[in-house]
This record gives sequence, C-alpha cells and structure tokens, in this order.
Amino acid sequence: MRVGCPKEIKNHEYRVGLTPAAAREYVAHGHQVLIEAGAGAGIDAADADYEAAGATIVATAAEIFSGADMVVKVKEPQPAEWAQLREGQILYTYLHLAPDPKQTEGLIASGVTAVAYETVTDARGGLPLLAPMSEVAGRLSIQAAARALEKAHGGRGVLLGGVPGVSPGKVVIIGGGVVGKEAAKMAIGLGADVTILDRSIPRLRELDDLFAGRVHTRFSTPTAIEEEVFAADAIIGAVLIPGASAPKLVTRAMLSGMKKGAVLVDVAIDQGGCFETSHATTHAEPTFEIDGVVHYCVANMPGAVPITSAHALNNATLPFGLALADCGIEALKADPHLMAGLNVHRGHVTNRAVAQSLGREMVDARDALTG
Ligand SMILES: NC(=O)c1ccc[n+]([C@@H]2O[C@H](COP(=O)([O-])OP(=O)(O)OC[C@H]3O[C@@H](n4cnc5c(N)ncnc54)[C@H](O)[C@@H]3O)[C@@H](O)[C@H]2O)c1
Repeated sequence: MRVGCPKEIKNHEYRVGLTPAAAREYVAHGHQVLIEAGAGAGIDAADADYEAAGATIVATAAEIFSGADMVVKVKEPQPAEWAQLREGQILYTYLHLAPDPKQTEGLIASGVTAVAYETVTDARGGLPLLAPMSEVAGRLSIQAAARALEKAHGGRGVLLGGVPGVSPGKVVIIGGGVVGKEAAKMAIGLGADVTILDRSIPRLRELDDLFAGRVHTRFSTPTAIEEEVFAADAIIGAVLIPGASAPKLVTRAMLSGMKKGAVLVDVAIDQGGCFETSHATTHAEPTFEIDGVVHYCVANMPGAVPITSAHALNNATLPFGLALADCGIEALKADPHLMAGLNVHRGHVTNRAVAQSLGREMVDARDALTG
C-alpha cells in the first residue's frame, strides 16, 4: 500500500501522523511511505530522517492526497484537505465528528473510509488511541490552569500550591477518566486541594484507592457540581461519553456564583465542551473571559508539546495502522476494536454516537463494508 502523511495545517499544530520510527516500520512491512516535505519539522524530525527510514519525500500535500491509498494524520481534515479525499482511500486520524456537521458532510461527500482514532476501543473498554493524548492534555491542563490563574493572565492571582501559612488553590476535576486522573496527579504534585467528580462509582473507587486519601471524590450530580464549582479556583472539564457531544455540566447561570477570576479549562472542547459558555480557542489565543471567569478551551492541547505528543501518539496508532496498511478494510472486519473506529464509509455514517449527535441515519459498520 502507499501510505501518505501530510504536514498538519491546523493552527499551531506541530505534531505529525508518522514519526520516522513509525515510517520505518511501514516500510519494513513492504509499504511505500510518502511524507510531505517538512512534515516532521515540529518534532525535530528532518526530511533526511524520513529518507533514512526508507520513506519518499514529496513536495506538496496534494501529492499525498492524490497518491496515497491510506492517509495518516493527527487532526481532523480541514476543508482544503477533505476536498481532496476520495472513495477507496482510507483516512486514519482524529475526527471528533459529533460536534462537527460540516466535516461530516465533507467526509460523506468524499466517499472516503474514515477511521477515527478516538473511537477505536480495546478489550478493557478503553480508548487506546485517545488515551496517550488524554494523558498529555490532562497533565497540561494543570499547567494551563496555573498560568491562567496568574493575575497578569486575567486570573484570581492564586498559586495552586499555596505556601506555608496560606491555603493552596482548590482544583475541581469533572470527569475522572484518563484526563482527570493525569490532571489530578499534576495538581497533587503542585500541592493543590483536589476534588474529582465522576458518574461512575467503580471509577471513583479506583481513584480513591489510587490517590490514597490525597483527593476528594464526589458522585457527579448537578448539585455536587454547583457546590464544587462555586468553591473552586480552577475547574478542569474532562468528561466523555464516547463519540457523543459532551454534556453541558457547567451552565452560564452558574458562572455568576463562581469566584471572580476562577479558571475553567475545558479539555472536552474537542467533543463540543462541557461548559455551556465554552468555544474552541487556539494556542495563539487560548483564553477568553465571560462573567469574570477565565475560559481556556484549546481543542488541540497536545499540539503545544509536539515532541512528547507525536511519539506517544505514534506508539499507540502504529499497530492498528500497520494492520490497515497490510490488510486494507479486511483489517476492520477482523478486529472489532478497530472496526469501532470506523466513523464514515462510502458516504455512510457508521458510528452510532456520531449519527445520534448529528441526527443522521446510521448504517451498521459491517453492513456498510460488505454492502
Ligand atoms: N482538548 C484536547 O486537546 C484534548 C486532548 C485529549 C483528550 N481530550 C478530550 O478530553 C475528554 C476526556 O477524555 P478521557 O480520555 O479522559 O475520557 P475517559 O473516557 O477516560 O473519561 C471520561 C470520564 O468522564 C466521566 N463522565 C461521563 N459523564 C460524566 C458526568 N456527567 N459527570 C462527571 N463525569 C462524567 C466518565 O465516567 C469517565 O470516567 C474527551 O472529550 C477527549 O476527547 C481533549
């Protein structure tokens, strides 16, 4: 197969779909790998590193989209990119279609077979291709909150760890999955007072055991969220209902009850955000203020640390990517966990949560592939 990797074009996105190490493995499997010139610049990987791995450097993204049987990326295709996709081609990347009807239309119109990293599953019910970026975003969310809490950045002027004789800042994490756990680790490391809310009691038990008394856990109800959010200096939004739009757990009305200069970090913004007042921001302008509350809603947080993120992402995507390159759509039929990643095929939406969120008809993935 011809496997192609264009340079990412989303604002401040420096990661790359294939590292030289990953390219080398595709080549070892007998595939031809096409890399757009400069695609690895953001992770300090030169074209020569890809050539040493056996890949071919091409000058433009257009050559990747027209020549590759499978396109491997990081972020969802932008309008200029989805216009170049075509039937019979596999797109393997993050998509986050539920809050994005325009992109969904674009993928449907193209006829492409689109496999979304974020809905591939594993045997333990986890999301193995989302997890590494959630680990990065979870850890970064506390760095972002700490920075935004500084007075010069519009925040309350609170140091999360406090100092001897002054209480630490209060961090409230809504959603105790991968993002929530990593955020808690960092917040505890800084010495903050940390509370995690989740709807899953088994998950709250795990977190309680893991943190051995160093975090408070609470079952997530509107009442609990209100009480915690009103007392917080920083709130991390980290909920996920796989494939679906995030529930709006912090409403606009609640902002007036919050401390002035408190910070909301909406990590779930890539699924539409879990705060009613969120809208996606970029690394160039990451925050905005509403009713005295600072919002940080960067949709591609791991893009800020591309070297760490690109390697972590490639570690996770490589085995499934190799299966797709080796076997094409047969790889989907052979592995229900990879099949769970199929979101769009030949004009059909094949993921139930995406279809429901967008009010579209869903065609069973297996039927779409065999039809
Ligand atoms: N902005 C970014 O750059 C970025 C990067 C990585 C991940 N994310 C996003 O972060 C979000 C969280 O990802 P994750 O990997 O931690 O997911 P996860 O599935 O590991 O965890 C989500 C948690 O939310 C909990 N939850 C669901 N409904 C809830 C509710 N009403 N109240 C409280 N908790 C609730 C679930 O029980 C689960 O424990 C996702 O939307 C993901 O796409 C964003």
